[in-house]
Amino acid sequence: MEIAQTIAEFKSWRKRNLGSVGFVPTMGYLHEGHLILVRQAREENSKVSVSIFVNPTQFGPSEDFKAYPRDTERDLALLEKEQVDVVLIPSAEDMYPQGYNTWVEVEKTTERLEGSHRPGHFKGVATVVAKLFNIVEPTKAYFGQKDAQQALVIKKMVADLNMNLEVIVVPTVRESDGLAMSSRNIYLNPQERQAATVLHKALNQAQQLLQKGEKDAELIRQVMTSIITKEPLAAIDYVSIADAQTLEELSQIDRPAIASLAVRIGKTRLIDNTLLT
Ligand code: PAF
Repeated sequence: MEIAQTIAEFKSWRKRNLGSVGFVPTMGYLHEGHLILVRQAREENSKVSVSIFVNPTQFGPSEDFKAYPRDTERDLALLEKEQVDVVLIPSAEDMYPQGYNTWVEVEKTTERLEGSHRPGHFKGVATVVAKLFNIVEPTKAYFGQKDAQQALVIKKMVADLNMNLEVIVVPTVRESDGLAMSSRNIYLNPQERQAATVLHKALNQAQQLLQKGEKDAELIRQVMTSIITKEPLAAIDYVSIADAQTLEELSQIDRPAIASLAVRIGKTRLIDNTLLT
């Protein structure tokens, strides 16, 4: 496995590897959710590349950029086991040198949900992902369904800017009690870890209500909200039943929809979602 510590080193690897390249962008502190993406990339491409970069521009001033968990040695051991071909670990100075001035903004899809609670977040995500795509020149890039809005934003950016790659969205990987895997789960103490299962419980309930024929989105939001409110350690940022493509809130579930939520468990902010079928 090659490790490229600079953009120039990665580009030199890419010049020597001209076949199909699968790409999994990450912020490190890898878990099974990331490794599933890597395995799918392995199956579908002749080479697999992964980036590890905790991107400062997608964190707000009061968010956890400094505290974000990092363990590059462990990450590299996991990636080596998955037979990854190359890992890009650029520095912030290499990605955003002094005088850096160019940003990618995807409109509309970024205004709701995470976008309205984390101003500037998707501008940082779209910019870094566009830069990584230009550096890596992947054939296919892999993203988790857990960050559903991020996946939609990246797909839209790729379509709108005629980028020459395919975006693949892979189902969320969950712990045995339903909690969606996330690097941020490490922040939870044992009581909070237990309380965090409330996200999945609320989403499950939404799915079940729809399956029983309930189409009233507001009623489903209310049921989800009351499940979360009963958990004393949980505080709601949003509970949403929205159009699965545009993320516009629905009053009736009369088209493909997504239930999503953001909940603070103690100081940790968790998100999760499910496509309503
Ligand atoms: O999902 C993530 O880990 C990040 O948002 C990404 C896509 C690596 C961009 O920094």
